[in-house]
Amino acid sequence: MEKMNSHAAKTPAMSATIMTEVVYPNDANPMGMLQGGRIIQWMDTASAICAQTHAGRIAVTASIDNVKFKYPAKTGDIISIQAKITRAFSSSMEILVHVSSRAVLSGEINPVCEAHFVFVALDDNANPVAVPNVKPQTQEEKEHYKNALLRKNHKRP
Ligand SMILES: CC(C)(COP(=O)(O)OP(=O)(O)OC[C@H]1O[C@@H](n2cnc3c(N)ncnc32)[C@H](O)[C@@H]1OP(=O)(O)O)[C@@H](O)C(=O)NCCC(=O)NCCS
Repeated sequence: MEKMNSHAAKTPAMSATIMTEVVYPNDANPMGMLQGGRIIQWMDTASAICAQTHAGRIAVTASIDNVKFKYPAKTGDIISIQAKITRAFSSSMEILVHVSSRAVLSGEINPVCEAHFVFVALDDNANPVAVPNVKPQTQEEKEHYKNALLRKNHKRP
């Protein structure tokens, strides 16, 4: 697919997305720990908002990679889901998502989960369509940008 030059590159900050949730009993297992599936659902929503904001298009989840559950969130915790684009290719975009928990009473913050989501932007006929490039600004964004290519090449030969 040919990349459209009319799309000006965008910085990761332009589509960075933060979602906040609270862990209710229905989100948790019998020990009061936030279920993995619910975490992924929230991450999928935040990363979809991020990808679609970058693309200005509807985008679908193509893959969820490198999922790491790091620390159990508990009932009552406040959950922050932060999604940021690392790189856009032709029609696909890699979004890095970090989830953290904050205990209301103690204020303790812990990393809960992280993963890379790949979204593909679609045109009105549901065919993949070109998206704007990503212009990384910070050193960290430049590192993520570089490594995103390695991940794409490694995953999709
Ligand atoms: C994702 C999807 C649109 C790709 O369609 P396709 O016809 O296979 O597309 P192509 O082979 O032309 O590839 C298009 C892009 O998708 C990427 N892609 C396709 N399958 C992928 C996968 N499993 N993981 C990551 N990227 C993928 C390709 O690398 C390519 O990226 P590029 O254009 O940036 O180089 C299609 O497989 C689909 O609709 N899947 C279902 C999506 C869905 O239902 N998600 C859940 C609901 S949102």
